Amino acid sequence: MSTTTATSTTTATSSRLTAVERSAQVERAIEQAPQQFRVLTGDRPTGPLHLGHLFGTLANRVRLQNLGVEVMVLIADYQAITDRDSPQNLPGDVLGQVADYLAAGIDPSRAMVFAHSQIPALNQLLLPFLSLVSVAELSRNPTVKEEFVASRARSMSALMFTYPVHQAADILFCHANLVPVGQDQLAHLELTRTIARRFNDRYASEHPYFSEPDGLLSAAPLLLGTDGTKMSKSRGNAVALSATEDETARLLRGAKTDPERLITYDPERRPEVSNLLLLGALCREVSPQELAEQIGDAGSARLKSLVIEAVNERLRPIRRKRRELAGQDDYLRRILADGADRARAIGDVTLAEVRQLMHKSY
Ligand code: TRP
Repeated sequence: MSTTTATSTTTATSSRLTAVERSAQVERAIEQAPQQFRVLTGDRPTGPLHLGHLFGTLANRVRLQNLGVEVMVLIADYQAITDRDSPQNLPGDVLGQVADYLAAGIDPSRAMVFAHSQIPALNQLLLPFLSLVSVAELSRNPTVKEEFVASRARSMSALMFTYPVHQAADILFCHANLVPVGQDQLAHLELTRTIARRFNDRYASEHPYFSEPDGLLSAAPLLLGTDGTKMSKSRGNAVALSATEDETARLLRGAKTDPERLITYDPERRPEVSNLLLLGALCREVSPQELAEQIGDAGSARLKSLVIEAVNERLRPIRRKRRELAGQDDYLRRILADGADRARAIGDVTLAEVRQLMHKSY
């Protein structure tokens, strides 16, 4: 545990290194006793899930579920209002997201899928948690800063400023002890750990109530989009899981590269070419260096053809399942209602215990 108590004074690089080491340790513990772990992860319902989600965390969730870990998947519909204001697409986006999860291999008979707005107790934890962090601490969160810049909004809403605290409630309401994340989420996880610690110090010093969750980094902590910036739907640079093979080809053909014919994996000097290699390598389950050697000096056109083929091959079974689920809205709604029922039962217990610990049970 003590290895991950990185504070805000450590640099991003060193906290990432510790997270990598810690991830390896946790992997070994999961293999030995998967039933000791409860995973909580989530995504904002901002439209179709894409390759960044698949390799960032989705594939990892499915793997953990299949190892026997309890997996809770949150559709972060309150978090989504931090950076967009068109709620009319929400019902379609949420059901689409459930379909994406199931197509990618989430099994609703084992995993729970639910949304923020369905779990009142989760949201109520935000209040005591807000009292445990300072404005200065929140101002330092690099991910929030980046998202604010990307959103091009003129001012930052108080919800956007505090959403990492809400995210701590996502994780702690169900006592999740494992959070598979991409690199950009590490700061939020560190805040969650801080909140758990401070809650215990203030209200439960004899018997710590919340345990500090561990992050689990996947092999592709940060997959870039086709323009060389973070892959994200709002930037129009992402390949959706539900895209057709032709759309996939079109998007990847337009990806930024460089004029050097010899293809090499060199993320520092050649971020765009290396990102395509990484994507192809993840799909083929080989190393990016191996893929680069196969291409040799055939240039970026060959690189792109190879990556297009690899992506379409990897996504073919997911897309087949996704097409079967499209239009089965009643079924998808039932999955969500069932997941929410189970999550609510857990959240109600936590909130009752928190109120007790805070001397608010009258
Ligand atoms: N912030 C995450 C994202 O933007 C989504 C998210 C919400 C999440 N709650 C979470 C991730 C809890 C992990 C754990 O992708």
